[in-house]
This record gives sequence, structure tokens and C-alpha cells, in this order.
Amino acid sequence: MPDYIIGPIAELHTLSGGSGLRRGERMRDTGVLHNAAIAVIDDKIAEVGNADEILKKYDLSGNPARLVTPGLVDAHTHICWAGDRADEFLRRAQGESYQEIADKGGGILSTMRATREASVDDLAQNIAARASAMFESGSTTIEVKASYGLSIDACKRELDATLKAQDSTPADLVPTFMGAHAFPPDHSKEEYLDLLCAELIPMAAAHPAKAKFCDVFCEVGAFSVEESERVLQSGMTYGLKPKIHVDEFNDLGGVEMACSLGAVSCDHLLVTGETGKKALAESNTAAVLMPGTAFYLGKPYADARGLVDAGCAVALGTDYNPGSSMVRSMALTIGLAVAKQGLTPEEALTAATVNSAAAIDIDAGRIEPGMPASFVAWPCASLAEFAWQFTYIQPERVYN
Ligand code: NIG
Ligand code: FE
Repeated sequence: MPDYIIGPIAELHTLSGGSGLRRGERMRDTGVLHNAAIAVIDDKIAEVGNADEILKKYDLSGNPARLVTPGLVDAHTHICWAGDRADEFLRRAQGESYQEIADKGGGILSTMRATREASVDDLAQNIAARASAMFESGSTTIEVKASYGLSIDACKRELDATLKAQDSTPADLVPTFMGAHAFPPDHSKEEYLDLLCAELIPMAAAHPAKAKFCDVFCEVGAFSVEESERVLQSGMTYGLKPKIHVDEFNDLGGVEMACSLGAVSCDHLLVTGETGKKALAESNTAAVLMPGTAFYLGKPYADARGLVDAGCAVALGTDYNPGSSMVRSMALTIGLAVAKQGLTPEEALTAATVNSAAAIDIDAGRIEPGMPASFVAWPCASLAEFAWQFTYIQPERVYN
């Protein structure tokens, strides 16, 4: 006997079809059912199907809903941080660029200073508060990068805080180690690269937070393609799967390098050219797009339409961080992908569920028997209406 039934559901997007990256035609099929129901037993999905049949079979009164989607999966965030960057936001609004501010010691290094000064408890509270707000906006799984400490001690405390935050938020957190976000001023570049490979990466790989990935910022002023490759290779020797911030401002060839290493994902891709698209299309690497960053920084959006049409498996994330994306809603992210990047609502929903789950190497984002009961009821009648209301839509209820 089910513990509860959601139904009748006017429009249910199941995303059924198993786990793993989807591309092309498979991104357009969200497994939509009308007049549907979901039966749940022990927090797992027991049955999905026609509402009349399921409600009659169990003689239970259901909980009617309008639009239901899987819990949204945010594949890329930096929500472990302290301090604020409001001053930089205003400077950018007056014409200074993100990179000019970073070159003057602001940007990532300003958040590094604030994060190093914060206690584990403070960081854990920040993460849990942000994750819980994101959960209330429909994100049931959130990747969290330890990306601002930039020292062995501070990185360890970021991972401690992420582990601790999990006890205080209903969202599922997936930690990533990103010691290679910037070069900290307390070391030469060579020294920091040596430290990353000899101490930070081994520490992260052994940490109880169980970070699965090693991420690097491949960009002019951050890590070169060669330096990024060294960091990712070193991570791989400790069992951390490669992820890369790449082509955010300059196309340096990092996509090709990361795909040849078998990276789980290449993220940003604002300026990716044809060779990068081809490498992604021929790989098993997810193309993680974060339209919130382009929106927030006032940069041109990634060519999502071109990436999907080239056969790339596009996924979505918010990139929620204090510098380049104060965007925490995946609904807003999906809406931007539709309004500004030419994806259909079905493609964007696939990108924000099964594909973003695959981009962080987990099985989530689909409503199928055996899966955890993780889904969102939205106060609108259809996926089209959801996309249309993207600037403000909030869930009616989040199940996780
Ligand atoms: O993903 N690109 C690099 N890292 C972040 C920004 C971090 C920051 O500005 O604090 C990003 O956009
Ligand atoms: Fe990022």
C-alpha cells in the first residue's frame, strides 16, 4: 500500500529512460504524461502511471497537482563562501570589468580572505542557509565547490563545513574540491601548483566529505591549459574525477584537453568555438552551462542551441557565487536557457535534471519506479507556462 499518492497530476514530466547523459532527440523527450499519478512507498517511487488506474487500484485519495517535474539538480555552485562582493557589483555596474577587478586583488581573492577568516560553523551555516533557499526554489541536489580557501587548512575547513551543512538542509549536497580556483598571493605559482598536487589534492581525496571531483579554473590570469592538465591529472591519481571551468572569457583549448582526459564536465563555455563543440560532442563529457553568469556579468550567453545541435550533452547549473552569479534559482536558469539561449523547455528541463545529475556523476532527476521520491509540484498548468513565468515561479511543494 502506498504511503501517499500524488495525483491526479495535470502534466507530469517523468524524464524516464534511465540514467546518463542525453543528447539530440533524447533531450527533447521528457516522458510527459497527462492525468498522471505517482505512488510513493518508503520515500521511493513505487509506481508512475494513469491517475484513474492508480487511484482506483489503491482506493486512496490522492493529492492533486498541476505541473510536476523531478527535483532540479544544480550541477555547479560555489555556495561555500563568507563575506560579500556588493562593492564589486557596483563597480562593475559603473563599467569596471570582472577581470580588471580581479587583477587589482578583488574578485576570488577578496572572497578567499573572508572565507579564510570564517569558522567552520559560520561556513556551514552559510552553506545550509543558501542550500535551503535553493531547495525552496526547487533544487533537490546541489553541487558545492570548496573553491575559496586556497590553502590546505582553509580547503579542509570548507570540506568540513560542507559535510556539516548536510545535517541542516533538506537538499542533497555533492562536494567538489576546487583548490585550483586562483593562485593565492602567499606562494609563487610553481609553489602553489606543487602544494596542490602534493598536499591539497591528497587531503581532499581522503576527506570524509567524499568530494568526487577535482575542478580547475582554466583561464587567462588563472590556470593555463598545461597547468590545468597537471592539476586534473594529479586529481585523477587520487581518484578525483576531472571537471573544468573553461572558455568563460577566452577559448584557450582547455575543452579539448579536458575531453581527452575523460572529464565528467566542461563548465561555462561562453566562448567555445567549433573545435571545442566537436570535442564535447564526441566525448562523454557534459557541457554545463550557467546562463546566470552571463546574465549577471552582462556577457554574451553560451551557444546552447549550437552545442545541442552539434550533439553535445548540455546540462545546467546556477554557478551561485558572490562574484559572477548571484543567481540561485534553477527555474530562472531554465528560463534564461529558453529565453536567451534557444533551448526548448523540454531540452532545458532535461539539462536541469538527468543531464545535470550525470554531470555530477549521480543518478537523480527522473521519476521512475525505484528512484527516490524527489520531485517538485509547480503552481502552473504546463512546462510552457513554467518557462513563461521563469522570473518569479516558486514551487508549490518540494518532495525529497
Ligand atoms: O564560476 N570562473 C570562476 N569562478 C567563478 C567565479 C568566482 C568568483 O568570482 O568568486 C565562476 O564564475
Ligand atoms: Fe564556477
